[in-house]
Amino acid sequence: AAVEKGNYRHFMQKEIFEQPTVVAQTLGSYLRQADNSVALPQFDFDISTIRRVTIVACGTSYYAGLVAKYWFEQFARVPVDIDVASEFRYREPVLEDGGLALFISQSGETADTLAALRHCKEAGQTIAVVVNVPTSSMAREADLLLPTHAGPEIGVASTKAFTCQLAVLAALAAHMAVKKGLMNREEESEVVAHLLEAPASLNAALDHDEDIAAMAHLIAPARDVLYLGRGPDYPLALEGALKLKEISYIHAEGYAAGEMKHGPIALIDDQVPVVVLAPSGPLFEKTVSNMEEVRARGGQVVLISDAEGLAEAGEGCIATIEMPKVHPLIAPLVYAIPVQLLAYHVACVKGTDVDQPRNLAKSVTVE
Ligand code: G6P
Repeated sequence: AAVEKGNYRHFMQKEIFEQPTVVAQTLGSYLRQADNSVALPQFDFDISTIRRVTIVACGTSYYAGLVAKYWFEQFARVPVDIDVASEFRYREPVLEDGGLALFISQSGETADTLAALRHCKEAGQTIAVVVNVPTSSMAREADLLLPTHAGPEIGVASTKAFTCQLAVLAALAAHMAVKKGLMNREEESEVVAHLLEAPASLNAALDHDEDIAAMAHLIAPARDVLYLGRGPDYPLALEGALKLKEISYIHAEGYAAGEMKHGPIALIDDQVPVVVLAPSGPLFEKTVSNMEEVRARGGQVVLISDAEGLAEAGEGCIATIEMPKVHPLIAPLVYAIPVQLLAYHVACVKGTDVDQPRNLAKSVTVE
């Protein structure tokens, strides 16, 4: 049956609001609630012997991979290489025995990612695939098929596939840690409990839709927007900038908050909105000091944080967006919501074709 928009104005908006449901569905197929453990689909290699993970993807799926790199290294202590698919083969990557090559794709058909998969297969890597279309080429060629259960994604700019990819990747990293003996039962059940909090936190984030709609006019006239984040929230800054570029046609750049002083700070003036993603927690103070550097140069800061973070650093910002207080593990999922909504509402103010932005395709099947 054709997918309908229902009461939503755009498919993208509908898909943003579906996230609590589809992330819960996806988590439900990877986590056993009875004993708070991780359960992957069947596969026939020994995951505890994996010595290196090579992640390859494009676009938003690549940013999910960048978040996952933090998790694989933190939990499973396995080194991770990550590339955009169009660059991967041409740098003559070193693919040693015992390597897991992990491909992330909504469609499972992106030409560059598929070509990289085949290259890794020929080089003897074990192939894992996180994919939203279970009948896709990538799904068929995987040794370990890890489906996301986002349902059909119609909007060209990816939203719900991304948060579902993050859910699967967190489960995979935790599972690998368990199998390698680096995560005990108690730690595993804590991780699972945090992941299971994600759907409610996504809902709480969506409650701020109207606040975000109300401030979109502050961003819409801008020519350039910067997004800053740190640690696992740095890829979210990249994703926020990508979403804004894709659907509002405003030039945007995502930067690691601490790297801004090595260049982009030269761009800061009172015409450049700077969106700062800073959940309170261990990295908060450092990000806030980078934010102060922006403000000292007249930069117009939009701070996205929880109540605690906003109380500490919200003053003097042109706008703030409040997120629920969440465990750092699920912050990348939760902070996806405000960056998606911000791009969406700015695009609505500008009157662009949100679901089918110019020059972009849902699935890119040429290299
Ligand atoms: C296109 C889409 C993006 C998507 C990227 C990767 O550029 O417009 O939204 O992130 O392809 O697609 P995939 O299906 O491989 O995740």
